[in-house]
Amino acid sequence: MLARVSDTLANSGVNSGTSSGASSGATPGAATTATPAVEVLSADKVFANGTRGLAPIQLSIMPGEFISLIGPSGCGKSTLLKLVANLIEPSDGRLQWWRGGFEKVGTPGRRLAFVFQDPTLMPWSRVGANVRLPLDLAGVPRREAMERTAAALAQVDLQPAAQRYPRQLSGGMRMRVSIARALVTEPDLLLMDEPFGALDEFTRNKLDEDLVRLSHERRLTNVFVTHSIYEAVFLSTRIAVMAANPGRIFGEFPVDEPFPRDAAFRASGRFASLCRDLSALLADASIASRPA
Ligand SMILES: Nc1ncnc2c1ncn2[C@@H]1O[C@H](COP(=O)(O)OP(=O)(O)OP(=O)(O)O)[C@@H](O)[C@H]1O
Ligand SMILES: [Mg+2]
Repeated sequence: MLARVSDTLANSGVNSGTSSGASSGATPGAATTATPAVEVLSADKVFANGTRGLAPIQLSIMPGEFISLIGPSGCGKSTLLKLVANLIEPSDGRLQWWRGGFEKVGTPGRRLAFVFQDPTLMPWSRVGANVRLPLDLAGVPRREAMERTAAALAQVDLQPAAQRYPRQLSGGMRMRVSIARALVTEPDLLLMDEPFGALDEFTRNKLDEDLVRLSHERRLTNVFVTHSIYEAVFLSTRIAVMAANPGRIFGEFPVDEPFPRDAAFRASGRFASLCRDLSALLADASIASRPA
């Protein structure tokens, strides 16, 4: 697990001496900015064993967008997210990050962090040390690392738990630690693969509300994998509905609802009608996913 975390950190662009405080420099915040954060340009994936994970995908992700990927199991959501994170390479086609190669990632305004479904915490370390890990690995000076860790913990309401061990936390708290560990790197592009899938609905709703607030405050660009229609509608500016056999984007579903959003949106008639429409599109995607 630690190896996977290290992979993530290697891509997170955390540099020694990075200044503390607010997200750095020229963070492109508005969805109207012309340069896409990520472009998937006819990228497909055939795995070594011959399994076709994805047919050629075309997707442009603009700064400030919150894009959710939803679709039946095995349709390639995680594969697409890993392509975006450069954790795997396409078999054909290519990706661009800020109109360049992956080396553009990690520079100010272009930092990337990945949150896995499992919180992947070190059980022998306290919460604070878990969150600080990316900064320690990057050689950030101790004092700065402590300040940034405290700020990241505060953002997920976990400051009082800094001295606890992961086993002393609830599942929702552990997931918040994992999110704080991503936030401490001050990412601009946050990739999350079903981060709240194992949590009860009440906790998930609360974390979704926190995530909306954080994304809005920090002008994050998000790509978020979920199986939940409600979660996708609540969080997203745009939803890519995927189908399987072969894995592909079946349709795009914009959610034209202003930010910030809160629990009142979830109780609104508009939310219900968006969920109904997305559910219908997903049903069509499921039918289209049947093996030929
Ligand atoms: N390393 C791999 N080697 C071979 N096949 C793989 C590999 N990873 C994924 N696949 C296959 O690629 C397809 C897409 O997998 P992926 O994990 O992206 O689906 P998913 O949409 O994330 O599914 P889920 O909702 O169950 O998480 C599946 O058929 C899967 O079995
Ligand atoms: Mg998956």
